[in-house]
Amino acid sequence: MGFPFEGFESGQRYRPAPGDIFVSSYPKCGTTWVQYIVYLLENEGRPLTGGQSLTDVFPHLEEVGEGPVRALPEPRLIKTHLPFARTPWSVQAKYVYVARNPFDCAVSFYHHTRGFVRHYDFARGDWETFFDCFLRGEVDFGDYFDHLVSWWPHRAAANVLFLTYEHMLAAPVAAIGSIARFLGGRAGELARDPHRLEGVARHSDFRHMQSDQDRWSSRRPAGMPAFLRKGVVGDWRSHFTADQTRRLAAKFRACTAGTTIGDLWPGLVADSLE
Ligand code: A3P
Repeated sequence: MGFPFEGFESGQRYRPAPGDIFVSSYPKCGTTWVQYIVYLLENEGRPLTGGQSLTDVFPHLEEVGEGPVRALPEPRLIKTHLPFARTPWSVQAKYVYVARNPFDCAVSFYHHTRGFVRHYDFARGDWETFFDCFLRGEVDFGDYFDHLVSWWPHRAAANVLFLTYEHMLAAPVAAIGSIARFLGGRAGELARDPHRLEGVARHSDFRHMQSDQDRWSSRRPAGMPAFLRKGVVGDWRSHFTADQTRRLAAKFRACTAGTTIGDLWPGLVADSLE
C-alpha cells in the first residue's frame, strides 16, 4: 500500500463536522462513481472542469490525514475505505455506503492492483495469486467481508444510506434521486427537478466518466487496464474457475451467517455453491 502511515494515523483523529458527507466503501465497489454523484449533487450538477481532479475536492481521509480534510469547504466531502469501527462517526454527519458483490469486486481489485505500479509490485501478477490473497483478506484495506459486516448493522441509521453497485447500475436515475433526497439541502432541491437529476446521471454515466480517466486517478502505464475499466455486473464469470467460485461462495456464506447480506445479491451464493 502506498499511503503514508501518518495519513492513516492523523485521519483517525479527525472529528466530523456537522454536515460532513462521507462516501464509504470497500475498494472497487463503486466509490468513485458515488463520490462523483455526490459532488455533482452538491454543486448544482456542474461537472468538474479544467485540471480539477476528484481527489482534490473529495479527498481520501486515510491517505491525506485530517489537515487537508479540515481545510475543505463545507459541507466537507470525504472518501474512506475504513471499516465502521475506524470511521470517524458523528450523528450529524452523513455516510453513503456502497457495496458490490465480492466476485466482481475481486476482479476489479485484481486489475486495480496490477495497474497501480507506483503502489504495488504486481504488474505481472496473475489472477490465481491475487484471488488467493483476496480470499485470505491479505489485500489493501483487509478482508472484504470484515468491511461489509462491520457496516451492515448501521445500514438503517438515519444518517446512513446503504447502496449497492448493482442496484445503481440497474436504475441510475432512481439511485441518484435517493442519494439527493438523503443528502437534503441543495441536493434535495435538485432532486425535485427530473431534468437536473438526468443531467447528473449523464455526467456520471460510465461512458462519460470513462472518457476522462485522468480526473479519477493517477496515470497507469500503457497496456494496463484503465481505472474505469468495464463498469458492468458479472465480469467475474470470465475470471473465476469453478473451484474459485465455490471457495468464495463458501467464505461468503460463513462470514455472513446470521445476517441477511446474501439477499443483496439474490441467488449469487446458492448458485455458486451448486
Ligand atoms: P470495474 O473494474 O469492474 O470496471 P472504486 O471507485 O471503488 O475503485 O470502484 C471502481 C469500479 O467502479 C470499477 O469497476 C469502475 O469501472 C466502476 N465504475 C466507476 N465509475 C463508474 C460508473 N460511472 N458507472 C459504472 N461503473 C463505474
